[in-house]
Amino acid sequence: MVIPDGLIQLVQKARRVVVLTGAGISAESGIPTFRQAQTGLWAQYDPEELATRSAFRRNPRLVWEWYAWRRQLVQQAAPNPGHLALVEWERLVPDFTLITQNVDGLHQRAGSQRVVELHGSLLRVKCFDHDHAAPTWEETENPPRCAVCGSYLRPDVVWFGESLPAVGLHTAVTASRRADIFLSIGTSSLVQPAASLPLEAKNNRIPLVEINPQPTPLTAACNFALTGPAGEVLPALLFKCFGWNWDSGNEGEAGIGGGGHGRFPTQ
Ligand code: OAD
Repeated sequence: MVIPDGLIQLVQKARRVVVLTGAGISAESGIPTFRQAQTGLWAQYDPEELATRSAFRRNPRLVWEWYAWRRQLVQQAAPNPGHLALVEWERLVPDFTLITQNVDGLHQRAGSQRVVELHGSLLRVKCFDHDHAAPTWEETENPPRCAVCGSYLRPDVVWFGESLPAVGLHTAVTASRRADIFLSIGTSSLVQPAASLPLEAKNNRIPLVEINPQPTPLTAACNFALTGPAGEVLPALLFKCFGWNWDSGNEGEAGIGGGGHGRFPTQ
């Protein structure tokens, strides 16, 4: 993998680093993305039937089961070298903000400390009527009920038409305006407001870098576009810039996941 000299210097000098990730960074862990033809979740399932409040009202059981299937997939998956490279980068610089659109918790499982989850988490559950958090629940009913108010439990993810967590979004926007470098990794750059974060950076003359095997609407605005899978490009970048070798001491969790849950089969 050829990393341009200008990018190496930029990365080595950067003290404030902002990274925005999307589903692509977890692809090499075996988690399906959303918009890839054939394999993407939205190529196979209709978001209108699975990822809106009205879908849940219409068919709570179907929605609960779909997220239970996805939860099982991520629990069986393991972080990959792309996630691990970001853990190392956070360790190396004084100010590192990792903003993710992913709900799979793999950044945290890899060891990232400061993660802004813009779209919530599959691993948390709250109630439909009042957002009461449910730390544990039993699969007695489909979906189970809130212990406080009795309404159905739902995943604590942001559905279409819902607002993003205000504090997380504020942190993300603020960090994006004052970084030394901004990286967009494994996202199609199509979903707002996440897609506007790199543009906030650009408007503040912050160098933009994209890592993605495919071009996106952001690519033309980037100072550097590294074409390839994050699980290969990020370790190569960290090696060139800091001499970091991902496979020494990281044999543990990294790997490929899979699994099935009732009517939602393995990809
Ligand atoms: P998408 O599925 O829209 O885009 C995934 C991106 O990852 C594409 O640009 C792929 O080219 C790229 N990609 C695939 N494999 C990769 C790899 N190994 N390394 C790096 N990149 C790779 O997913 P997102 O952009 O994350 O929202 O989608 C944004 C939001 O749309 C999601 O958070 C979700 C969805 O609807 C909610 O659920 C609220």
